[in-house]
Amino acid sequence: PLRIAVLASGRGSNFAALLAARERSELPVEFVLVASDKADAPVLQFAQSAGVPTTVLDPRGYSDRRAYDVALFDRIGASKPDLLVLAGFMRIIDGEALKPWTGRMINIHPSLLPKYRGLHTHRRALKAGDLEHGASVHYVTAELDGGPVIAQTILPIEAGDNENTLAARLLPLEHQLLPAVVALLAAGRLALSEEGITFDNQPLRKPLRW
Ligand code: GAR
Repeated sequence: PLRIAVLASGRGSNFAALLAARERSELPVEFVLVASDKADAPVLQFAQSAGVPTTVLDPRGYSDRRAYDVALFDRIGASKPDLLVLAGFMRIIDGEALKPWTGRMINIHPSLLPKYRGLHTHRRALKAGDLEHGASVHYVTAELDGGPVIAQTILPIEAGDNENTLAARLLPLEHQLLPAVVALLAAGRLALSEEGITFDNQPLRKPLRW
């Protein structure tokens, strides 16, 4: 099975969705590590309950971002993952440090990329008067939330929506999207090359829809 390491900073509901999909035998993968920058992240409890090894690396012990990221990826690399999944990992990653993982690292981001890279995506979609919001899973590159988009889920914005209602309606869709993309990766149906993403060996011209 595909060996997966998860990086997460907080609540861990997307990781829980991956665990649940595996539990239902929908994901032929092995979770080899959950790594966090936060010692009190609830995601660590999910991992421990499921018997998945965890590691915490506190950024405060490092002189700069690159030193931290190199140490983090060293530690992650020791568990020999095939794929790194960022599931609510809230740190920017140094471009040099992540280079060796290009094509083997994905992130879930709560917006319809290329719209709203970075933080406060729900607020920004509302403020812009968008009719649709959504979430994206993309390959991670040095450009923050700027790597090639694999798949998206779309959510209509309703009159009266606020940041909280929007986030609450989007989250269950994220929980479908991320396991679906990981399943495609586990099946060997996706790849990243210089020319971009291929899906079933054909160039992917626009993100898959979930
Ligand atoms: C999710 O909504 C995810 O899309 C977002 O953080 C949340 C994590 O929730 N990720 C980002 O904003 C990445 N910049 P979770 O910890 O319950 O999975």
